Amino acid sequence: MSAQSEAVRRLSVLDIAKLYADGVRIATITAYDYPTAGLVDQAGIPLILVGDSLAQVMLGYDTTVRVTMEEMLHHAKAVVRGAKRALIVADMPFLSYTTPEDAVANAGRFLREAGVQAVKIEGGVRSARVIEALLRAGIPVMGHIGLTPQAINTLGKVRVQGKNREQARALLADALAVQEAGAFSIVLELVPGQLAQAITDRLRIPTIGIGAGAGCSGQIQVITDTLGLGDWAPKHARPYADLHGTILDAISRYKADVEAGAFPAAAETVLMDPAVLDEVLGRGHADRADRAFGTDADIPVGGIPLDRDL
Ligand code: KIV
Repeated sequence: MSAQSEAVRRLSVLDIAKLYADGVRIATITAYDYPTAGLVDQAGIPLILVGDSLAQVMLGYDTTVRVTMEEMLHHAKAVVRGAKRALIVADMPFLSYTTPEDAVANAGRFLREAGVQAVKIEGGVRSARVIEALLRAGIPVMGHIGLTPQAINTLGKVRVQGKNREQARALLADALAVQEAGAFSIVLELVPGQLAQAITDRLRIPTIGIGAGAGCSGQIQVITDTLGLGDWAPKHARPYADLHGTILDAISRYKADVEAGAFPAAAETVLMDPAVLDEVLGRGHADRADRAFGTDADIPVGGIPLDRDL
């Protein structure tokens, strides 16, 4: 083990509980790949979600329903390699936790094969049995209520949840059920601010809000929204960068440079001893054709046929 890997300790659910107990608002963000996870870690984010939003923001699917266990595992592995300190939660994809048995088998793959420390599952009262089974198997769980995107086909469309009396009561019951089942935290997605605050006040586990106002114990955002990478972002997101513009500009300038012959330049080119190449090509010094590289600039280009008998 290197000195560096010894120095970095992976956070656990107990560390998240301590942040919550200390009143620290828990900044959480999604990540899906190695380099971004490394940057998120460097920024000191304690909790990373490999969200199934992967489906839309990285893989180009129309809904999260489409993403598979194998795709989630592939990205979770990269995130674990990239982030050495943050607690990493993997989102259980659609139909991977329909029964407690399926849930334990699939969540076990996330811990064993990818090396994440916890999983997230959608649903409140309806998911309590599954959460309990995961806990019994030693797998920490983050709950997720409010808008649950995997249910998009029954919900009809993405909209705020809990605005009317019945929905608000149901959400409170969902939050309590997730807590009593043993989850270490719970995502509240697209919930009115006052209701999210009321739920937060009634729980002893941290609520992590997205589109749920400032009254939650922490916040989570989809990283492409925060970085301004997509061509659209939800109303609750705040872009802290314009990576869409930055990347587009960089790639356009690269293309222009290649087309103009301005990339690569001498500083970006490796040269070899011209005498070695002369020998390989069986040509004399006078035939040398390396003027483009700035050496022997006054030597005329030789017309050596490439199929010359060496
Ligand atoms: O998949 C995801 O990114 C999520 C967050 C929106 C909480 O579930």
